Amino acid sequence: MTEATGSIEAPSMGRRRFISLMTGGSVAAVAMGAAYPFVSYFIPASTGSGSGGVVAADAQGKPVSVSNLLATRLSTDRVLAQGLKGDPTYVVINESAIADYGINAICTHLGCVVPWVAAENKFKCPCHGSQYASNGKVVRGPAPASLALARASVDGDTITFSPWNDDDFRDA
Ligand code: FES
Repeated sequence: MTEATGSIEAPSMGRRRFISLMTGGSVAAVAMGAAYPFVSYFIPASTGSGSGGVVAADAQGKPVSVSNLLATRLSTDRVLAQGLKGDPTYVVINESAIADYGINAICTHLGCVVPWVAAENKFKCPCHGSQYASNGKVVRGPAPASLALARASVDGDTITFSPWNDDDFRDA
């Protein structure tokens, strides 16, 4: 005959591992779900025409509309888009026209995405304080170099980014 002890039995090792795996899996699934929109923003929907260029796309992977940008943005705005290799790249609006260059948003210090601060007319990295002028030229470290350039070409209502093969005009 067995007597009830009234105590709660501790879960076996196997059961504890299972519960631990399930909990960890759930946390990972939630974290991945939360991160997906952020990560997917930087994955290009298409690789362009094969000429080394890529059509600038918005966060949903749709081509950025030049007419929409010029109608809705400030005349000196910098607008984040998907660029070459999926890098976040700014479309540059200068005096209500699309400039012939884009600015890669990856900080040259340790790779944070650098936000455009329109009120100060500069890019300011939130990670370690580097600052870049409105054309991406570094004006304050610790970033060792200016933000990378991409060639921007307007074709109808779309913009194509291609590798920058010229000298850096900001060094002049
Ligand atoms: Fe931008 Fe360090 S990553 S300043």
